[in-house]
Amino acid sequence: MENHEYFKVWQEGLFQGKACLITGGSGTICRQQAAALMKLGCSVSIVGRDQEQVDSVVSLLEKIGAQAKAKVVGFGGCDVRSIESMAAVVAKTVSAFGKIDYVICGAAGNFMSDFNHLSANAFKTVVDIDLLGSFNTVKACYPELVKSKGSVLFISATLHYYGVPFQSHVGAAKAGIDALSNALAVEFGPIGIRCNCIAPGPIGGTEGFNRLVPNKKNFESKIPLQRVGRTKDIANATIFLFSPAAEWITGTVMVVDGGFWQMGNFNTLEMYPDVLKQKLLEKPKL
Ligand SMILES: NC(=O)c1ccc[n+]([C@@H]2O[C@H](COP(=O)([O-])OP(=O)(O)OC[C@H]3O[C@@H](n4cnc5c(N)ncnc54)[C@H](OP(=O)(O)O)[C@@H]3O)[C@@H](O)[C@H]2O)c1
Repeated sequence: MENHEYFKVWQEGLFQGKACLITGGSGTICRQQAAALMKLGCSVSIVGRDQEQVDSVVSLLEKIGAQAKAKVVGFGGCDVRSIESMAAVVAKTVSAFGKIDYVICGAAGNFMSDFNHLSANAFKTVVDIDLLGSFNTVKACYPELVKSKGSVLFISATLHYYGVPFQSHVGAAKAGIDALSNALAVEFGPIGIRCNCIAPGPIGGTEGFNRLVPNKKNFESKIPLQRVGRTKDIANATIFLFSPAAEWITGTVMVVDGGFWQMGNFNTLEMYPDVLKQKLLEKPKL
């Protein structure tokens, strides 16, 4: 967890009395979003599959919440691919906090694979976790969002802004998330619910970054703002998009990437085309 000095730019108590449900809240980026919200008074519900992981993040967050009078609850054993599973954690969250004001759809899966080695099942798994999981999360939270006139934050990526080799599954899933966010923003606007999306660039210290950027030498110099992202960069964007300062913002995808995607795709350039060609001509996998 990063330190919280940067939150001095945000007003203390900004989210006092509010409650947020976060899928993927035990992950590297989303736990920082949770910490930021709690620091400003928001209670949070952390949702994931691995109970131990959820418990360890909850105990980290309890210390942060104690100072800001914000509570944290955690629910392991929840798979976002199951609407019943999501409905159950929503019910438990409402019984803990009495409401849900904010929702972050952060749960995701990722791995590197060229098309030839990507099984139909592997493709479906990523689309199910990222896209169907985001749909299920909003679906299960919807009655509470209607009551609170709440706000939804999807998490996508920039991988579908151009063709990124070894990431066709994630690019397809994340493109779907952007589309879902845009459509729901339009549908929900008249009943007072806002929907936005954050598209993070490469965030240092995450498993995804380590996998996608195996060679980090000179990598930062290729990012216009000359450094990789930090989890707090995503947390800051989160606070802004949930805050009243964004009350007239819905249906936007906020890219938080130091300008990286504008440079084109450097991540996998070293493997292009030789490694890729070799893999594409190996025995196909069904
Ligand atoms: N890291 C980056 O540089 C980067 C760049 C662009 C976009 N993003 C996006 O930012 C978000 C957070 O990324 P991260 O790097 O922090 O990921 P992470 O550390 O791998 O966390 C992912 C979280 O999702 C949960 N999860 C996965 N499958 C799930 C399922 N079926 N049901 C419920 N929960 C599930 C995991 O918990 P369990 O395994 O316990 O379920 C974990 O808490 C993701 O949406 C990712 O695609 C990240």
